[in-house]
Amino acid sequence: MMIAQITDLHVRPRGKVAYERVDTNAMLQVLRDILEPLSMPVYLVPGNHDRRAELFAEFGSDGYLKNDDGFLHYTIEGHEMRLIGLDTVVPGHGHGEMCAQRLAWLEGRLAERLDQPTLIFMHHPPFSTGLADMDRINCRNGASMAGVLRRVGNIERVVCGHHHRAITVRWGGTIGSVAPSTAHQVTLDLVPDGSPSSFTMEPPGFHLHVWSKEAGLVTHGVTIGKFDGPFPFILDAEYPGQMATPKAA
Ligand SMILES: [Fe+2]
Repeated sequence: MMIAQITDLHVRPRGKVAYERVDTNAMLQVLRDILEPLSMPVYLVPGNHDRRAELFAEFGSDGYLKNDDGFLHYTIEGHEMRLIGLDTVVPGHGHGEMCAQRLAWLEGRLAERLDQPTLIFMHHPPFSTGLADMDRINCRNGASMAGVLRRVGNIERVVCGHHHRAITVRWGGTIGSVAPSTAHQVTLDLVPDGSPSSFTMEPPGFHLHVWSKEAGLVTHGVTIGKFDGPFPFILDAEYPGQMATPKAA
């Protein structure tokens, strides 16, 4: 089972540019148009720039988004790995939250299947990353969520976006990670001096999570772009630490 985690597309209506600079339309067209040709199932979780009502109006007909209790969280059953998508949005704010209601929902869903490998995906990271200015707009109540996760043993990963960089951390008795954006990246700034975050045009990317019973969940970071190669590994006799290919006499 393969899961491509595509995050922080920053899609804007045609002709509008994000942050006066990033033409995310040119990179990704408009969301429905881009996702339409994909042959695999596509599941969305809302991010801080999304409006629940509009997302539901556009994608509710796909069936997995329910919105019964006001949140766009859901589980995806029937695969080797169970997927749980969380809605961390706090309308009008950059930060997210796992409030008591959403935590209770998550706890209830986890209790349904304690033996199936499970992947949780959510927009805002509920753990610290060291990107001080970005951490201000993390998912709040992360400590409570970590407590909930520690009580179960079948969470393979908690995968997030929002910070526009590849980040990995041990958290909540599992592995937390953040995938890079398919648009712009957040500058790697680990100095806790209160300076505002900024963005760079480092190459876009995504995470490919590959599940097999033998290996468990293995995550590959994939850089998007056109690069030279692939080239074969042709070794010469002097290459240190390698077996030299015998030369024909
Ligand atoms: Fe975000």
